[in-house]
Parts: sequence; C-alpha cells; structure tokens
Amino acid sequence: MLEHIESLIQQHRHQEGGLMLLLHSLQDALGYVPAEAVAPIAKGFNLTRAEVHGVITYYHHFRSTPPGRTVVQVCRAESCKACGSDELMAQIEQHLGVKAHETRADGAVSLEPVYCLGLCAQSPAIQVNDRLFARVTTERLPALLAGVETA
Ligand code: FES
Repeated sequence: MLEHIESLIQQHRHQEGGLMLLLHSLQDALGYVPAEAVAPIAKGFNLTRAEVHGVITYYHHFRSTPPGRTVVQVCRAESCKACGSDELMAQIEQHLGVKAHETRADGAVSLEPVYCLGLCAQSPAIQVNDRLFARVTTERLPALLAGVETA
C-alpha cells in the first residue's frame, strides 16, 4: 500500500491541486484514505501532517476507515431534503439495519449522508456504489436496494 501511495505522490506532487487529485485517486483505489498515508503525503507535498489531516477531514467525501462492501449515499442537501430525503434515510436505515454515518458490523454496507449528488432537479437522489438514482420514492426504494445484503 505504501508503494502505491508513494507512486501517487510522485504522480501528483507537481500538479496544481495535486493533493486533492491524490486523495481522490487513493480513495478510488482503496475506498478510503488510510491514516498511514498522512505522513508520506505530508512529506511529499511539503505540508504538515495536520494540514493533510485537515483537508481529509474537511471534505465529507473522504473516508478515514474502510467502507462496507456496498456504499449507500443519500443526498441530504436542500432540494432532496425538501423532497423527502429524511423519509428515505429512515427507511434505508430500517431496511438495511445500519444508521447514517455507520458501517454495519458485518461490513456489508455503509450508509452515508452526502450533500448534493448533482441531481437537484430530480430530487430526491441516492447513490448505491456507483449507480445514481433520481426521483426516489419510498415505494421504489426496496427495488433499488434489492441487491444490497440485508442484516
Ligand atoms: S440537492 Fe440532492 S442532488 Fe442536489
């Protein structure tokens, strides 16, 4: 893993916005940004570990722990909230046996609130791994979650 991190550092360290590009690449590859990555990234970008940690924790997108095998994201931004995302979140929590911001103990699923999936005109929206779903209703939800392991 550290070799992979070093390779990403070399790839991105001289790019504008390289730190963000690296963090995205790392999370795409591993599913999260491991704590072990902070020190080498800080060194590679001539930053303090606190600065790198600050970036990772500032953006909700970045995870510091491995996600479940399935990641369900529910948009909680204004448009989706106005169109029923609270009800969707409650239904998903009950259906999958996991609370928002948590990964189920068996590692099957993580449930993450997110703040805009870019489908505001078709709210409410959710994402299951890489698949986006718009105009989600409580009636449609069970079918959309059919492939997700239940507790
Ligand atoms: S507010 Fe939910 S997709 Fe933008």
